[in-house]
Amino acid sequence: MMGLRKPKDDILGNEVAGQIVEVGRDVTKFKQGDKVFGCVNRSNAEYLVCTENATITTMPPDMSYEEGASIGFGGITSLHFLKTMANIQEGQRILINGASGGVGVYAVQLAEYFGAEVTGVCSTKNIELVKSLGATKVIDYTKVDFTKEEEMYDIVFDAVGKSSFSKCKKILRDDGIYLTTVPTFRLLFQMLWTTKVGKKKAKFGIASGPENLLVLKDLIESKKLRIVIDRIYPLEAIAEAHAYVEQGHKVGGVAISVYQENEI
Ligand SMILES: NC(=O)c1ccc[n+]([C@@H]2O[C@H](COP(=O)([O-])OP(=O)(O)OC[C@H]3O[C@@H](n4cnc5c(N)ncnc54)[C@H](OP(=O)(O)O)[C@@H]3O)[C@@H](O)[C@H]2O)c1
Repeated sequence: MMGLRKPKDDILGNEVAGQIVEVGRDVTKFKQGDKVFGCVNRSNAEYLVCTENATITTMPPDMSYEEGASIGFGGITSLHFLKTMANIQEGQRILINGASGGVGVYAVQLAEYFGAEVTGVCSTKNIELVKSLGATKVIDYTKVDFTKEEEMYDIVFDAVGKSSFSKCKKILRDDGIYLTTVPTFRLLFQMLWTTKVGKKKAKFGIASGPENLLVLKDLIESKKLRIVIDRIYPLEAIAEAHAYVEQGHKVGGVAISVYQENEI
């Protein structure tokens, strides 16, 4: 994450959806044939092995595999940052930078679900989408620098890590919180510093665990959370899919479709 060491895993991917083909003797939570989705590392593969306590759960009946494999990372991260780290409350004002990305599309919907007043930051082409997800105001980052605006916020969630605590400090209310998904050494120092000094806090975290996935599943089933997929690629075109994602302009998730003929 900090770019200091080459990642050890030679298989990429951390979101998954599929059908369980085999379970171990002591597994009680899942059975052969269950359709599941969630977040497990090394998931860009046809078969995947994980423990029953991994971040997976059964899929709602009308969810496609592509949808199931597109929600976990962004949804869990958004829920963890907004609820666990910032304890978002009804009536609070939140700005979400990168509102059209894999994290942002769920952050906007969840913040609105928790009763906050949401301002989303995205480019011109994504304004209508971000509004449709629940933002009451949208700022086009290609035209306006949101850190130089007058509006003040209880929470600034930099879902795409393109701004900084230093820049966002002036638009944070007195006890406001700056959250970012992307750590820098400066941010880690600011995180430590702001635990001791001042009321405005800088925070970074990493989300995991099946509890948040169950909350997301409930919200999807009750139609309170919409899954946003930009593109679906076949497994053979996975390099092309990665190249597209690496451009940094995807909207929501990009899914890899493996195959569905061999279902149990
Ligand atoms: N800490 C954690 O646990 C955690 C978890 C998940 C992700 N992350 C990190 O969070 C970051 C975001 O992930 P993601 O999946 O949401 O990324 P992403 O989907 O690739 O982000 C792309 C989106 O960001 C928008 N964007 C690009 N530049 C922008 C800018 N300057 N201002 C505002 N929006 C901009 C793009 O919109 P346009 O096309 O309109 O520019 C696009 O919709 C990644 O660096 C990822 O590694 C961390």
